[in-house]
Amino acid sequence: MKSRLAIAAALLSISAALIHPASSQDGVPQEVRQDLMDEVGDATGVMGNMVRGRTDYDPGAVAAALQTISENTAVFADYFPEGSETGYETEALPAIWENKADFERLSQEMSTKAAELAAAVPADLASFQPVFQDFTRGCGACHEDYRQDN
Ligand code: HEC
Repeated sequence: MKSRLAIAAALLSISAALIHPASSQDGVPQEVRQDLMDEVGDATGVMGNMVRGRTDYDPGAVAAALQTISENTAVFADYFPEGSETGYETEALPAIWENKADFERLSQEMSTKAAELAAAVPADLASFQPVFQDFTRGCGACHEDYRQDN
């Protein structure tokens, strides 16, 4: 029979996972940052599908996606400590460690921009399209200098 303590511990770890949606937050930095970017990619995909007319435009879902991107890019640059330059199939380029301040600035800028947009999502798709194009330039700008081509 499970002890009450074990059950309490299990519940505690479940609530910890809910508080930290990127649940591998305590794992190796290469994996944490890839999980964070994975979620950024998924959130961008949700908006991209609307822009391409594959799904109906939904301002609420756009706000949620931008919120995820804002939260993840706010902490993304924290997961590039010395010693995590290689391994775990990382696509991070050495330039990150050579230009840490620039890299952190690009991540913070995306976080701030996403939060601003989330608070002012256009009501219609036609207005959102140019906003989305402009916003996603920030992905390419960072990937160009700091992520391996794949
Ligand atoms: C501040 C720089 C920066 C910004 C801004 C940025 N990325 Fe990334 N992204 C990276 C780096 C660096 C990696 C490689 C991380 C690794 O492999 O360790 C990456 C990896 C990824 C991955 C692969 C994740 C995986 O599972 O390995 C996806 C998808 C992605 N980015 C999408 C996006 C999208 C979409 C945006 C814009 C909304 C964006 N990124 C903005 C730097 C950035």
